[in-house]
Amino acid sequence: MSDEILHELESDATRDAGALFLDVTTRYLEQTRAEVVPVSTPHDASTLAIRFNEPLPRKGKPLAEVVARVERDVIADSNKLCHPMYMGHQVSAPVPAAVWMEMVTAAVNNSTAVWEMAPTATVIEHRVVRWLCELAGLPPESGGTLTTGGTEATFTALLAARAAALPDVWTEGVSANPPVLVHGENAHYATTRAAGELGLGMKNAIAVPSRDYRMDVRALRDTLDRLEREGRRVMAVVATAGSTPTGSFDDLAAIGALCTERGIWLHVDAAHGGSALYSATHAARMAGVSRASSVAWDPHKMMLMPLQAGVLLVRDERLLDVAFAQKAPYLFHGARGDERVWDQGPRSFMCSRRADALKLWVALQRYGADGFGALYDRLCATTRALWEELRSRPDFETLHEPESNILCFRYVGRNADDAFNLRLRERWNRSGDGWITTTLLDGQRVLRVTLMNPRTTSEHVRRLVDGLASLGARGQA
Ligand SMILES: Cc1ncc(COP(=O)(O)O)c(C=O)c1O
Repeated sequence: MSDEILHELESDATRDAGALFLDVTTRYLEQTRAEVVPVSTPHDASTLAIRFNEPLPRKGKPLAEVVARVERDVIADSNKLCHPMYMGHQVSAPVPAAVWMEMVTAAVNNSTAVWEMAPTATVIEHRVVRWLCELAGLPPESGGTLTTGGTEATFTALLAARAAALPDVWTEGVSANPPVLVHGENAHYATTRAAGELGLGMKNAIAVPSRDYRMDVRALRDTLDRLEREGRRVMAVVATAGSTPTGSFDDLAAIGALCTERGIWLHVDAAHGGSALYSATHAARMAGVSRASSVAWDPHKMMLMPLQAGVLLVRDERLLDVAFAQKAPYLFHGARGDERVWDQGPRSFMCSRRADALKLWVALQRYGADGFGALYDRLCATTRALWEELRSRPDFETLHEPESNILCFRYVGRNADDAFNLRLRERWNRSGDGWITTTLLDGQRVLRVTLMNPRTTSEHVRRLVDGLASLGARGQA
């Protein structure tokens, strides 16, 4: 047996080897701060695929060579979320302490499937979950789990709601007459997808119309009344706090009161907006969340964690214990006597689980809850500055007042139509000067920004408006 491969591993396990990665990462952070690199790539997918179209490497190469290629071939044409002109999707320019912690988490590599595999990370996960439960005003018996993100958090919440509505479902399956799921028309697709995944069927996911991009509570009441008259059982109502298209918050106090009055499971998808709870200015938008049966909250969104870090909170930890009624004697040993079950695997979709709670815990130690409140406020204030700028420009139309850090608008110069706006966005994103998104709002093509980078200032958003206006005026869209 040769030790050659072991020697290679050990030579990579040194400070000098780690410094190669550290140098590339800090260079990325510096170059994006200095704005000396393009925000994205001008290349399309097939051009980039040619770059990587090579046979499986049979032999390894020196680490320095590999790292140099990462910088040249991967990072150079990545979307640079740390560049202040990146204003695209709901993915963060991550906070540095959490970025550095990722390396430690990977090196230690404890799986949080069961406590015995991750003695400290497991209890830290419970600690972090409890902190978030307290912020949401959930009772002492509340608990939860980390997830890969909001989609998994909402899926898991609705799995628990299904177990509550149909206690035999794990063995018997969903009957021919499943309960229904009621959600706002602007809910993230995670909700309707869950209806399909859970065997309810998409036709049993009922959308309630919005008013000003929030769930219309009167329409919700009417829907619940109608379902009751028809003898249909409601498995859950899903409200959204920080909707994907416009960052709007449903009226959780009114919806919560309605659900409590009727004994209906309320799931709040606060994947985007949950972090408003850190902000003295914005926490009121979450008022009523304390009535929820479950809450999805993504630290990888407005807590600016690197992917992945989602959290599901449940009003009573036992609700999650029954969601997955899985037996696995080689792994899950259950409670010993009266001791609580610390293992998170039985409460989770995953078996092997990354210790994502560690970066969250480190970031909270480093910046504190107030630091996250300040970040939330800053991102919302910059979005408001953009809204004010757009309102002062005749060649743009704003479609809503921002409630958080998401804003939709249209270019209306040169009689621009939907197709023009779509092309304008493509042109802008390919230019390397900035990067934004688009969506359909009320059937209209709109431009959309999400500010997830504290480096973005009102000067940058003005530059975005000037850049779009100049492309638009030249008819270059
Ligand atoms: C309101 C809302 N819910 C859920 C999700 C999905 O979250 P994730 O991408 O972390 O699965 C998103 C993401 O855009 C969202 O905006």
